[in-house]
Amino acid sequence: MCGIVGAIADRDVVPLLIDGLKRLEYRGYDSAGLAVVDGEVRRVRRTGRVAEMEAAAQAEGFRAALGIGHTRWATHGGVTESNAHPHISHGEIALVHNGIIENHEQQRERLRALGYAFESQTDTEVIAHLIHHYRSQGDDLLAALQRAVRELDGAYALAVVDKREPGRLVAARMGCPLLVGLGEGENFVASDVSAIVSVTRRVIYLEEGDTAEVTRQGVRIFDAEGRPAQREVHVSDVSLASLELGPYRHFMQKEIHEQPRAIADTIEAVVDAGGFSPALFGADAQALLRDVDRVQILACGTSHYAGLVARYWIEAIAGIPCAVDIASEYRYRKVVADPRQLVVTISQSGETLDTMEALKYAKSLGHAKTLAICNVPESAIPRASALVFYTRAGAEIGVASTKAFTTQLVALFALAGTLARLRGALTEAQQAEYLEALRHLPGSVQHALNLEPQIVAWAERFATKEHALFLGRGVHYPIALEGALKLKEISYIHAEAYPAGELKHGPLALVDSEMPVVVIAPNDSLLEKVKSNIQEVRARGGEMFVFADADSHFGESEGVHVIRTPRHVGVLSPVVHAIPVQLLAYHAALARGTDVDKPRNLAKSVTVE
Ligand code: G6P
Repeated sequence: MCGIVGAIADRDVVPLLIDGLKRLEYRGYDSAGLAVVDGEVRRVRRTGRVAEMEAAAQAEGFRAALGIGHTRWATHGGVTESNAHPHISHGEIALVHNGIIENHEQQRERLRALGYAFESQTDTEVIAHLIHHYRSQGDDLLAALQRAVRELDGAYALAVVDKREPGRLVAARMGCPLLVGLGEGENFVASDVSAIVSVTRRVIYLEEGDTAEVTRQGVRIFDAEGRPAQREVHVSDVSLASLELGPYRHFMQKEIHEQPRAIADTIEAVVDAGGFSPALFGADAQALLRDVDRVQILACGTSHYAGLVARYWIEAIAGIPCAVDIASEYRYRKVVADPRQLVVTISQSGETLDTMEALKYAKSLGHAKTLAICNVPESAIPRASALVFYTRAGAEIGVASTKAFTTQLVALFALAGTLARLRGALTEAQQAEYLEALRHLPGSVQHALNLEPQIVAWAERFATKEHALFLGRGVHYPIALEGALKLKEISYIHAEAYPAGELKHGPLALVDSEMPVVVIAPNDSLLEKVKSNIQEVRARGGEMFVFADADSHFGESEGVHVIRTPRHVGVLSPVVHAIPVQLLAYHAALARGTDVDKPRNLAKSVTVE
């Protein structure tokens, strides 16, 4: 969603800010802007892409040693230039904000009564005026910021500059990520390390309630009570290569093709731990996982579908009941607490607000056994969890999640194996068999990728359709859900997924020759049932697109197209079958000419409710 970058240096920071904003584009946004302090506060804002804002900044000759930039994903107020950040108060204070201020209406009334005029419909503008208000009462910029944030309800990451204090920028964090980047004689702030990785890798993650003063020489951090605080310096290992497109046309395409490597890297963690071992999840895992009697999974979007696959594994392999909830539902539900329940959050970004709030809610009910499965080190959700497994997918830039999903599946499979082992439900022979399956997984995924030319041919037929149905059964039903989600996210074709057995309870009414039906049909115990479901569709004139492995013995016939997925890969089959549905969505989107990496209205990290 929104992105922040700020810099103070002895050189022109405008190119750094623009470069940082471009690196944040992947998060999803609809307008961009920057403000610099150059004797005056100068600002440029544009709806649309960062490149348009960059052209305007160049045309107006922006150059300065202090500045802040922002990409905005509209929440309060439409996508207009006047709602874009930075927001300015009285030509002096400029501010960028991620998050939502819940008491903005009360603050607006109060500030209006003090004589402040508002130019935008945003919740953010009140913060700029509030800081200006305290500044005009004699506070310096840092003190004014610290006073202002005490009066805000809601979530924020803020970076602020003041024309009267050109030697510093100040920042604050509550509920939204913000970090300080440490350079040589220059320092930075950013909402995401990828924004500044080309200038520094040394970063300090601000904690909840922190404020910071950033000058050329250094950084001072204060905790929520305003006391000086020491925060650890981390060296980020985000690779520049993962942030560059290389020879690919889209990040999504690149990330789909990176999956054999990402999966192999994630499996390496399991191999290094000597198999399914609590050590995979952190130092305290043995004690925490030993007496787990139920598992509750919480996540959103694609991560939620990873959870749905995991439920089959956890129940079948470990014999432990497992519930999976959408985080935004769980957090508002009256939940029966169980201290022996393991609460697992799954989040690529580690900062999805609903998942974070669901975790906080579970903790408030007394759940101390919390595990985060996450792809972004040091992000908020793992930091709030007792245990963590970091997937090794590398930075994922495409809004539609691909390699994060399949590596989450590997992590969840390892969790099922570990819980089974701790309960004595897994023999050495079974463990060896599962580890062998894991070892073969990157190869099977590569075979699935090799199906791309056949899938391109299918995708071209899909591109002309407005609706599609995805069917699966058992552990492949969540893969049908994921296929439908991918297709609608990036190609804007309306797609729904059903467990194939549910077909005749409703969706069959939609089937006609204009409704392509995709079926995930590997050779598992439900294959014969799926074959019957396919007949039900064929009898109504529906066109079938079947992904079936070589052992399924599916023949092509009139209206039934078959792509053969790799030979039966057993328990890890959902991971392999995720690949063709990703490719189908990607190529359908390509054929329709949509913006694959930045689908309309969507954001990579959803940091609002
Ligand atoms: C957004 C993204 C999805 C992602 C979901 C959950 O909707 O577009 O790709 O699956 O958020 O994100 P998380 O980072 O928590 O996995």
